[in-house]
Amino acid sequence: MRVLVLGGGGREHALCWSIARSPRLKKLWCAPGNAGISAQAECVTLDIENAEQVVGFCKREAVDLLVVGPEAPLAAGVSDAARQAGIAVFGPGQGAAMLEISKAFSKEICIASGAPTATYGVFDTPEAAKDYLEKQGAPIVVKADGLAAGKGVIVAQTPDEARDAVDSIFDGPGGGRVVMEEMLVGEEASFFVLTDGETALPLAGAQDHKRAFDGDTGPNTGGMGAYSPAPAFTAEIEKAAMERIVMPVLAEMRARGTPYSGVLYVGLMLTREGPKVIEFNARFGDPECQCILPRLKTDLLPVLLACADGELEGQSLDWNSDTCLTVVMAAQGYPGGYARGDVISGLEEAASDPDVTIFHAGTKAQDDAILSNGGRVLGITALGKDVAEARQRAYAAAKAVRWDTGFFRSDIGWRAL
Ligand code: AMP
Ligand code: GLY
Repeated sequence: MRVLVLGGGGREHALCWSIARSPRLKKLWCAPGNAGISAQAECVTLDIENAEQVVGFCKREAVDLLVVGPEAPLAAGVSDAARQAGIAVFGPGQGAAMLEISKAFSKEICIASGAPTATYGVFDTPEAAKDYLEKQGAPIVVKADGLAAGKGVIVAQTPDEARDAVDSIFDGPGGGRVVMEEMLVGEEASFFVLTDGETALPLAGAQDHKRAFDGDTGPNTGGMGAYSPAPAFTAEIEKAAMERIVMPVLAEMRARGTPYSGVLYVGLMLTREGPKVIEFNARFGDPECQCILPRLKTDLLPVLLACADGELEGQSLDWNSDTCLTVVMAAQGYPGGYARGDVISGLEEAASDPDVTIFHAGTKAQDDAILSNGGRVLGITALGKDVAEARQRAYAAAKAVRWDTGFFRSDIGWRAL
């Protein structure tokens, strides 16, 4: 098979690394890719949010399967355009990706399908949002309705904080609309499900670390580390999440004429009343993907194709019983401003342990050197018999990487230990 992956982060490196192991793969491209991905795929320059460019490439190169990594191309309708052109696509259409694109829509789908979630209101003016705040009080969660690259959610502890959050959202680029919701209490977990729209195959649970610094302090980031499976996400919780959330939501999306296919990322709060939806994403998590795929023994490529072709029924997945843990190395200053172009070395030595894999995120090759080229730069990933062993291996590898201005959290996995 001839496959094109869109994206250039750690998630896409993990996807390319998995796809490249498939005996059915003939040729793999990744746009734009990164320095690590170029070991598995030919990296090509394309505007991945431009449907014409992506479809044109797929036609020219006779691509059999398009795999969409990030949400932006989904929101831009790239998967729809490719499907219309007769190309198999792993990733939902724009209408189904609304589950991620609009928080108001995702709440509406939860209510319509009976999926447990926080009580909420949607408001088009700051005044209306503040009236709701008067009635509900704090703590309260204030969310921009649209895509905000992980920066559109404020968990406000006081009414003043909530009012500021409302103003900042109405003044900001997300603009227009806020969702205000009840603050849920519990541990968070990310649950990933593969689906062709009808059949759903639970992939795995994972736990991410969203804050920049140790002890879950500092600003929110895209994710500083993750592990899978997460002991807190038990088989019983998985069953409840499938029955009460995933299957009803997929049925609701079908009923609306926008069946959801691809990977559904269910962000959950594990509350005392059971798992409740915090958010949906229409893509794999990053860095969760990096610590899920190394555990998968089944050939990923035919499963992705089955999702695209509506043929997931009867498929199953075989897992390694190990735990996998990823430590993200980021550029100093991330998630704020940071420099690019720092030389990173020691990667081969760091990855010399056969249980360690280093996924690249923001990296670029220049001559023989690897340069930092983004906020989150590397995902140091290790397998082990449990969280403690995987973590010890990942940190030993992270410490062998030579990059003066890089940083990482030193407590990834603390919840599970
Ligand atoms: P989201 O982008 O919706 O995942 O929100 C980002 C983060 O905000 C989540 O990972 C949670 O830590 C927090 N959050 C969002 N919604 C809630 C909620 N209803 N209750 C408590 N925390 C929340
Ligand atoms: N790690 C969180 C996300 O991918 O949204």
